[in-house]
Amino acid sequence: MRTSTLLALCATLTFLTGTALADIPPGNGHDETVKVCGKCHSPEQAASLRQTRTGWEETISKMVNMGSEGTDEEYEKVLDYLTKQFGPEAPKPIEVNTASSIELEAGLGLTRSESAALVKYRDEKGAFKSIDDIKNVPGLDFKKVEARKARLKF
Ligand code: HEC
Repeated sequence: MRTSTLLALCATLTFLTGTALADIPPGNGHDETVKVCGKCHSPEQAASLRQTRTGWEETISKMVNMGSEGTDEEYEKVLDYLTKQFGPEAPKPIEVNTASSIELEAGLGLTRSESAALVKYRDEKGAFKSIDDIKNVPGLDFKKVEARKARLKF
């Protein structure tokens, strides 16, 4: 019940702000993480970092020092879960044709008006087929897009 309320809240927040909170995906150790790490703050905050197993070990000891309670077995599961789901992952690809204006702004390092211009152009002319199409977007510093071309997906 609490988890589903929380999920509904997250969905609402995501809808309202356009910014996704870190998801707490299902998997081994999910329940322990929500239980142990969701007591003082949301489990989403617990999952706000991206780090190695050692990094997560340090975070967990820090939380234990601040009063976090759990069994050794629970902490072991939490550590495995966080390391697997929130490890130091490669940056995500940028879906040029489906990303929202805010995602493009953040992902490509654009100004708000540049990302808006990109979306407007996309709406008017249809999907971009390659990076060359983006050169034609008026009011956009193409160098910024080119600098991140390895991450672009069309
Ligand atoms: C006893 C309360 C409590 C519990 C339980 C708890 N935390 Fe925290 N956590 C805090 C507080 C207080 C802060 C803010 C501390 C700060 O800003 O230095 C925090 C902040 C964080 C942060 C933000 C970054 C940082 O290092 O400050 C992360 C990540 C985090 N907690 C992860 C976890 C994880 C993972 C668990 C489960 C193992 C957990 N927390 C359980 C109290 C708790």
